Formats: sequence, C-alpha cells, structure tokens
Amino acid sequence: MYSLIRKALFALPPETAHNATIAALHFARNPLLNKLVKSLLACPTGQAKNVMGLTFPNPIGLAAGVDKDGEAIDGFAALGFGFIEVGTVTPLAQDGNAKPRQFRLPEVEGIINRNGFNNKGIDHLIENVKKARFNGILGINIGKNKITPIEKGKDDYLFCLNKAYNYADYITVNISSPNTPDLRQLQYGEALEDLLQSIKARQQILSAQYHKYVPIVVKIAPDLTEAELVQLADTLRRHNMDGVIATNTTIARENVTGLKYSQEIGGLSGKPLQQKSTAIIRRLQQELQGEIPIIGSGGIDSVPHAQEKIEAGASLLQLYSGLIYHGPALVKALVKNIK
Ligand SMILES: Cc1cc2nc3c(=O)[nH]c(=O)nc-3n(C[C@H](O)[C@H](O)[C@H](O)COP(=O)(O)O)c2cc1C
Repeated sequence: MYSLIRKALFALPPETAHNATIAALHFARNPLLNKLVKSLLACPTGQAKNVMGLTFPNPIGLAAGVDKDGEAIDGFAALGFGFIEVGTVTPLAQDGNAKPRQFRLPEVEGIINRNGFNNKGIDHLIENVKKARFNGILGINIGKNKITPIEKGKDDYLFCLNKAYNYADYITVNISSPNTPDLRQLQYGEALEDLLQSIKARQQILSAQYHKYVPIVVKIAPDLTEAELVQLADTLRRHNMDGVIATNTTIARENVTGLKYSQEIGGLSGKPLQQKSTAIIRRLQQELQGEIPIIGSGGIDSVPHAQEKIEAGASLLQLYSGLIYHGPALVKALVKNIK
C-alpha cells in the first residue's frame, strides 16, 4: 500500500509531498478518522521503557523537523510512535531558506535539506500542543532565530525554554543544525559551557515554578572529531544534562559522491548517515558509560539497523528519512521488535 502512496508523493517535489503528508495527518486528528487510521495500520503498543524518569510507551520516536509546528501530532501518534518530537521551533516565526531546499537521493535512500528552521514560532506551536490528545511522550525541540546574532543565541533558547517548559515531557536543545549560520559553534568550548549552565539554571527555576522536572536533552552533529566528541561528552556530564540525541544530519558527502543533488548545500540524512551516526553513538556510550541516556537518530531503515543502534548504546530511537522511504510499516516493525 505504501509503495503506491510513495510513488504519488515522490512524483511531487519533496517539500510539497511533505506538506501534503502533514495536511493529511492534520486531518487525522479527528477522533473517528484517527481510530480508523490506527485500526488500519494495527501497530502494536510495543514495550514500555523508562528513560530520563519518563515512561515511553515504546522506544520508537518521530524525529524533529517532520512536524515543526505541531500541526499533526495526533496523526503521527496513530502511526504507533511512542514519542513525538515537534520543532525545531524558534521564538519568532521565520520563513527559512529559499526554495527548493529539500532534495531526495533515492538511489541511497538519502535526503539533503537546508530548510533553515522554517516555523511559525513558539506561540503557535504551543497552541497546537495544547490541542493534541496524544498520550505518549512529547518532546519540544528549540532553536534560535536566524536574525539573532550567535552571541545572543542563548537568549532565544531561554525564551523558548520558558514558553515550552509546562507543555513538554522533555525539551531538546538543538545546537547541531547545519542550516542556521554559526549554530554549530555552540557545540564547543565557552559557548557550550555558558549555554548549558544557563539552561540548567533556568530548568531549576522552572521546575520549582511548575512543580515538575522536565528533562533537557542536547542534539549533536555527526561531524565532530573524536576529540571534540570526547570533550562534548565531558561537558554534557559536568552539566548533568538529561539526555543526548545523536545525531543530526551530516555536512559530509562521502557516501553520495556522483549522485544527483549530492553537491547541494545542507544536511544529509537517511541511509548514507546510518553508520556514521551509529559510530558516534558507540563512542559517546564509551564516554558516558550509561550516565546520560542516548537517543539514536540517523538512517534507521530496518529492524537490524535499529538494533545496531540499541547495541551501540541508544536507549531510544527516532526516525525521519526512513519514514519517508519505508512508510508506516517501518514504524510498526520497529515498535514490534525493538525493546
Ligand atoms: C527535511 C528535514 C528537516 C529536518 N529538520 C530538523 C529540525 O528542524 N530540527 C532537528 O533537530 N532536526 C531536523 N532534522 C534532522 C532529523 O531530525 C534527524 O535527526 C536526521 O534527519 C537523521 O535521521 P534520519 O536519517 O532518520 O532522517 C531534519 C531532517 C530532515 C530530513
């Protein structure tokens, strides 16, 4: 069934196909339709898992960037995900980069995107989150506006943290998108220390204010050297971060040379990222020794490759490109088989 839908979607430009999917799944928030979708797909509930003090109905999640504005949370929930991460959201709405900004590399099941955090802003997202009925775990992924100078980036994260805190089960600090100028600088040295210190201090204030502790995770790039990764792991540990997502998209092109669109600027995801992100998870786990849970993301396209990430040290997994190439059947297979 999905092969037919995929054929139709792949006849459209990637972003048009994406918007059509979001619109269809937005519609599926209607309770009757939602029930119908659920019963048609018949995804099992899966095996619950306790991570970061939260009970995830199953360890399979929707990665950030799919539902940036939280328009289709209940529709995605009907596919069987145990957790859904919305965003990346920024304080103010912004258009993102000029189109076209998404490219399919079907030969290798890859995608290159340079969206640049197109989103309708944090207030709009929160209104959508309030309307959702999803009873799994909801993550809100936060970032900075393009117009905010990088030295003031911290203010944007704190602004979004304040707004999102009471509505999220966990919050992701995205410092690894390659499509916002200089954003990845926040992964290093003083800038990282300062950002994490401020975020943890604010978390403490907010947890007292709302009488609940909302875990904060950091999403990292796959393009770090080993020394940088070791340093980053140490910083995450010293600041008692609650989790880490490994990884975002890559700026490398080693697995796609010669393919159409391979030289487009942006982040590469999907199968060409698979082994690179698994290697990062493995190395991170060696450093963190289970002290900070790892959420694995990058090229998950099958049960064996998902299992590989679990064995490398991931406690939870997230999908984006795999969902586009393999559809809801992939979610079902993973929910059924991954513990
Ligand atoms: C079109 C597109 C948009 C994305 N937007 C975001 C985003 O806004 N924030 C974010 O943290 N990650 C974003 N990502 C990265 C994904 O969340 C995921 O980490 C990455 O694609 C690797 O997983 P995958 O290989 O399963 O796609 C985006 C990925 C794609 C393909």
